[in-house]
Amino acid sequence: MMHQYPDVRFMPEMSVHSDVVAEISSEAFGPGRFSRAAERVREMAGHEPSLSFVASLGDAIVGSVRQSRIAIGGRPAVMLGPLAVRPPFMGRGLGAALLDVAARSAREAGETVILLVGDPPYYLAHGYVPLPTGSVLMPGPADPARLLALPLCAGALEGLCGRVTGREGIRCRKEAVGLLGDIRVAAG
Ligand SMILES: CC(C)(COP(=O)(O)OP(=O)(O)OC[C@H]1O[C@@H](n2cnc3c(N)ncnc32)[C@H](O)[C@@H]1OP(=O)(O)O)[C@@H](O)C(=O)NCCC(=O)NCCS
Repeated sequence: MMHQYPDVRFMPEMSVHSDVVAEISSEAFGPGRFSRAAERVREMAGHEPSLSFVASLGDAIVGSVRQSRIAIGGRPAVMLGPLAVRPPFMGRGLGAALLDVAARSAREAGETVILLVGDPPYYLAHGYVPLPTGSVLMPGPADPARLLALPLCAGALEGLCGRVTGREGIRCRKEAVGLLGDIRVAAG
């Protein structure tokens, strides 16, 4: 993780961080953020604390990334956002490091895809790819050119299409394996 702050620590977001995360996000995106389609998704699928992180430097929280568990056309996925770094700390690799921590946590949780709506020039440099126009439908207007995804395993984007929804009743790979394990034990 190449950033220029040896003393920065990355830790899962806790409830005590809610206010500062809201402040960082407001500073980065302004009041217009609530009208975005990504915000509609977050209303359906609140952020998952174990997949959401803050960057702390001493007593200060200097950046944050949130992720929510969603489904795309019934397939489990993760939605990333907001990602923001406090202005005085921008441009030193913290955004990249937060993206890396977020992707690793999602992969370790058995997730296969991260979706986001963001500036392509920034995210394409971090492995995200544009989705075919019209393949993934957000619950509100979103510029298709800004709809990007990161595959967390080979073939994860193949056939990915449909509406973005919450995750109720849909399990990701790791949860499904756990379930299968239970069934085998019960049957054996
Ligand atoms: C986007 C953001 C999270 C990146 O965090 P960061 O710690 O500054 O990023 P990094 O240090 O990892 O990367 C910096 C590089 O990304 C580039 N970059 C930053 N934001 C960018 C954007 N929106 N589009 C294209 N490139 C961008 C910088 O110019 C810099 O390029 P360089 O390395 O060639 O100088 C942070 O700048 C931020 O919070 N911005 C406000 C919100 C925002 O504009 N978001 C847009 C993305 S949806």
